[in-house]
Amino acid sequence: MKLIVTGGAGFIGSNFIRLLLEKPDDHLKLLNLDKLTYAGNLDNLTDVSEDSRYTFVKGDIADILEMRKIFEQFEPDALINFAAESHVDRSIEDAAPFIRANIQGTQVLLDCAMAFGTKRFLQISTDEVYGSLSESDPAFTEKNPVVPNSPYAASKASADHLVLAYHHTYDMDVVVTRCSNNYGPYQFPEKLIPLMIHNALTDKPLPVYGDGRNIRDWIYVKDHCTALHEVLVRGEAGRVYNIGGDQEFRNIEVVKAILSIVGKPESLIKFVKDRPGHDFRYAMDNSRITGELGWEPSVTFEEGLEQTISWYLSKKDWVKKVISGEYREYFDRMYGDRLSAN
Ligand code: NAD
Ligand code: DAU
Repeated sequence: MKLIVTGGAGFIGSNFIRLLLEKPDDHLKLLNLDKLTYAGNLDNLTDVSEDSRYTFVKGDIADILEMRKIFEQFEPDALINFAAESHVDRSIEDAAPFIRANIQGTQVLLDCAMAFGTKRFLQISTDEVYGSLSESDPAFTEKNPVVPNSPYAASKASADHLVLAYHHTYDMDVVVTRCSNNYGPYQFPEKLIPLMIHNALTDKPLPVYGDGRNIRDWIYVKDHCTALHEVLVRGEAGRVYNIGGDQEFRNIEVVKAILSIVGKPESLIKFVKDRPGHDFRYAMDNSRITGELGWEPSVTFEEGLEQTISWYLSKKDWVKKVISGEYREYFDRMYGDRLSAN
């Protein structure tokens, strides 16, 4: 199978590429197509970059001319679209890059897939498209309405609607997956878990938004990737599949667990100004994917967090490199006032 993976130099995409290349499949030809934004990093894939089945090409999914050339040359059988602007806080600062990458980029890929006869299109989406739950609400099912709250979530919801509309209108073979919060190796330290690990290890304050009672459902990235492989191979065209880790925790519990594993004091925690429009809770009902495809998450939060912290401890050079340059400016912009306020 000839497969294009967009956004393969990012966190989940690079974990997915590694999972595929670990399988002894001589018929696989995999093209990693990535713009290498601040979040894209080829160092995430140095261990697999020499594999003869793997190629990298730098490109912007929202650029139709570039994309047409790539599709023409590679003639993919399938495409899996991870490429996106992915951080909620950045979307609150400036929605424009989110509209371009997440909506226009998806539309360009759909048009190319249709024009060049790509047989399967897998869109990687998020639980955030369903909006927010209260403490007592049942978990999101695929039948929940799509009511996104942040500019990021709205851009992902628009992309989902486009993908499903191409199935309805043109009978394209598309599948959409919506997953909960991922954590694990190679996650950029702007997201809660890697940011808190990094700050704890370097004795910096741990900025917890609001009162820290917000709830997320955490899934170890490798479990997400095995689910995606099942959906890519066996998912039903036109269908949406929820993917979650069945591991709900309050943010403050997550932060305290990290401090406890790395042996640092809770006095490092600093409650800071809340995220505007902060969704209270996400939780996923996995019964469709478990019932229809037999997939289940295999890593508990405790195990996954231990493994993630060990990984960050063993990859200090990787962290050092990704937090140079743009990251420092971002951190000052996002946390400067918050951390200096009382
Ligand atoms: P990430 O930010 O780590 O990686 C995104 C990748 O996309 C980067 O390599 C970046 O260079 C690339 N990219 C961005 N714009 C591009 C463009 N215009 N053209 C080509 N490449 C571009 O993100 P992630 O956390 O790995 O998330 C991957 C996907 O999974 C996203 O679509 C995200 O919405 C979705 N998702 C993420 C989570 C999570 O918890 N991280 C959960 C559910 C769904
Ligand atoms: O739910 C899936 C989504 O999970 C993905 O679609 C997104 O791409 C991904 O970024 C993530 O979104 P969240 O906003 O849930 O993740 P984040 O790591 O930014 O924040 C997790 C929780 O922690 C959230 O309630 C906000 C809080 N938080 C976050 C940061 C960065 C803090 O309290 N302090 C922080 O410094």
